Amino acid sequence: MKGKLLNTGAVIPAIGLGTFGSDNYDNETIAAAVHTAVEMGYRHIDCASVYGNEREIGRALAEVIAEGTATRGELWITSKVWNDCHDDVEGSCRRTLDDLGLDYLDLYLVHWPFPNHHAKGVTVDSRDPHAVPYIHENYMHTWRAIERLADEGLVRNIGTSNMTRPKMELLLRDCRVRPATNEMELHPHFQQPALFDWLVAEGIQPIGFSPLGSPGRPERDRTPEDTSPMEDPVIEEIARRRGVHPAAVCLKWGVQRGGVVIPFSVKPGKMLSNLNAVEGDPLTAAEMEAIGGIDRGCRLVKGQVFTWPGATWEDLWDEDGTIRQ
Ligand SMILES: NC(=O)c1ccc[n+]([C@@H]2O[C@H](COP(=O)([O-])OP(=O)(O)OC[C@H]3O[C@@H](n4cnc5c(N)ncnc54)[C@H](OP(=O)(O)O)[C@@H]3O)[C@@H](O)[C@H]2O)c1
Repeated sequence: MKGKLLNTGAVIPAIGLGTFGSDNYDNETIAAAVHTAVEMGYRHIDCASVYGNEREIGRALAEVIAEGTATRGELWITSKVWNDCHDDVEGSCRRTLDDLGLDYLDLYLVHWPFPNHHAKGVTVDSRDPHAVPYIHENYMHTWRAIERLADEGLVRNIGTSNMTRPKMELLLRDCRVRPATNEMELHPHFQQPALFDWLVAEGIQPIGFSPLGSPGRPERDRTPEDTSPMEDPVIEEIARRRGVHPAAVCLKWGVQRGGVVIPFSVKPGKMLSNLNAVEGDPLTAAEMEAIGGIDRGCRLVKGQVFTWPGATWEDLWDEDGTIRQ
């Protein structure tokens, strides 16, 4: 399986299985998908404590290891500290390790750069009454705790998620251990080329979430302006020519441009075709260029529920290059 070399010397598998069921699938179904995925050849699983299914996934991992399908060393397991645990990173990590039945994680991420959180299944209007903007001092407090987990060997690589360039510049200025990765929304309709290229130049590996445009995302993450990369005529035409599903084109493009992709599915046929998509013939230069031309700047996971009083979701993303307060 293809992998990407991180700034720590570790190699992360270029495709992983997402495990956020978007409120559509129960924990046992997702755990069963993890079991099937490892049997199929997936070696990378993208978890998070907020997905609420790490205990069930832990049982699936124990099974595949006991059955001899994969060793612990062959698996790459990511998890993330949720926004309500920025002041208890070690406690949260230890709970995740306990739930997953592991003694280390391959990668541990700060899920969002804000302590603002929401309950499972809330609507788009829900707000955390204690929500605050980005406070760098607080983020560094969280990051230092993550660095200590790496020192202790509880996590082998550390990274960020949903960061912007201005926030990342502050982190790079003040950190002792640089992030190995940034997990961020990436698909043909939301390519984030400037941030992507800058991260790569800084030696930080982008991991693309919602690589298919997240067609099953929760209602709170839908707006009428949203577009669907799998229904883009350019993607459909390349897929038709190659005799594959548009999903395969999105994933192949995501890995070929230098990213890691973590598509979600619990359906074996889709899981297998996604896994196979990143192997085999690469896209041609003309196909890569054509896909490069269909970026719509269409952010799907806008984060409305994380905004603070008076802010809009655009304020989370620092698009004018300054951190909004
Ligand atoms: N760090 C973060 O803040 C963050 C945010 C969002 C997501 N993530 C991670 O990224 C993962 C993936 O993102 P996502 O779940 O939002 O979106 P996604 O992977 O782009 O889309 C998943 C959806 O695509 C469908 N699908 C999968 N393979 C397909 C195929 N071959 N053909 C047709 N449809 C296919 C699935 O359908 P079925 O339901 O029918 O299987 C599912 O509804 C998450 O599970 C999570 O692990 C991280």
